[in-house]
Amino acid sequence: MKQYEFFRVTLEDHIATITISRPKALNALSTAVVTELETVIEDVSAMDDAWVVIFTGDGDKAFVAGGDIKEMYTMNPDQGVAYSKLGTRVLYKIENMPQPTIAAVNGFALGGGTEIAMAFDIRIASSKAVFGQPETGLGIIPGFAGTQRLPRLVGKGMAKMLIYSSMRIKADEAYRIGLVQKVVPPEDLMDEARALAKQIASCSPNAVRLAKAAINQGLEMDLWSGNVYESHVFGLCFTNSDQTEGMRAFVEKDKAVFNGKPLPKGEPQ
Ligand code: CAA
Repeated sequence: MKQYEFFRVTLEDHIATITISRPKALNALSTAVVTELETVIEDVSAMDDAWVVIFTGDGDKAFVAGGDIKEMYTMNPDQGVAYSKLGTRVLYKIENMPQPTIAAVNGFALGGGTEIAMAFDIRIASSKAVFGQPETGLGIIPGFAGTQRLPRLVGKGMAKMLIYSSMRIKADEAYRIGLVQKVVPPEDLMDEARALAKQIASCSPNAVRLAKAAINQGLEMDLWSGNVYESHVFGLCFTNSDQTEGMRAFVEKDKAVFNGKPLPKGEPQ
């Protein structure tokens, strides 16, 4: 497996696990970290053997403590725009990875930490996790698409309350408002994330990728266009051997063995 400065990537049972590791700064997202993250995301996206992706933070304290405040401290406006554009581009790539993705949030997920967690498909949080967008308390606004993804996930009023006040919320509250899908004891976090990843990997990788494309693209459309798009993607399932295998297994009362071969490039991935 390729080596990185700030990340570890492992692949086991079709599950790729990406661990961000910058312990001295609680995994804060400096320009160097975000730049390397883009390479990691591109590398893992291209791994046909990786059917599900888990992302977590190194150590037991932080998932990601946000953008790097020490680096931002001396930025001029142009550097601020460049840093924000880099972060939003990389998080957009995360959101559109072909594989289903799970953020296993193991601790502080503040600012860019909440923002990066929101770019993954599903969030499982340790009961020790803490979320929030503290940027206004630093004299800035969220810069890695927090003003865009947070209201889409938790609604406009709740997002405004969190962003205007810079308040931190604990995992249970994050669950209550729909920011995370599950809260588990810290010692169970990675087992829970892997169990979910295994459950997803037991389904057709091709169908799961197409379902992701239908949800992500469809949510950007009006309902009717989304319906039309879903029908197109539904049809694409029938071009792949996973469909015949899944239905053969049902008809023959057998267990399906999916091969995970993705569709040709150019189709929704
Ligand atoms: N940037 C740079 N360094 C950071 C950092 C950050 N976001 N968060 C933590 N660190 C560094 C600290 O400066 C400290 O380094 P030193 O030992 O060299 O002083 C080290 O990590 C350990 O942190 P603390 O001593 O502060 O640890 P703590 O347990 O007392 O507190 C914490 C933990 C509550 C997470 C606290 O570190 C904190 O509040 N961090 C900042 C969180 C934040 O505001 N994030 C949002 C940043 S802005 C942003 O993200 C914009 C955007 O949209 C991209």
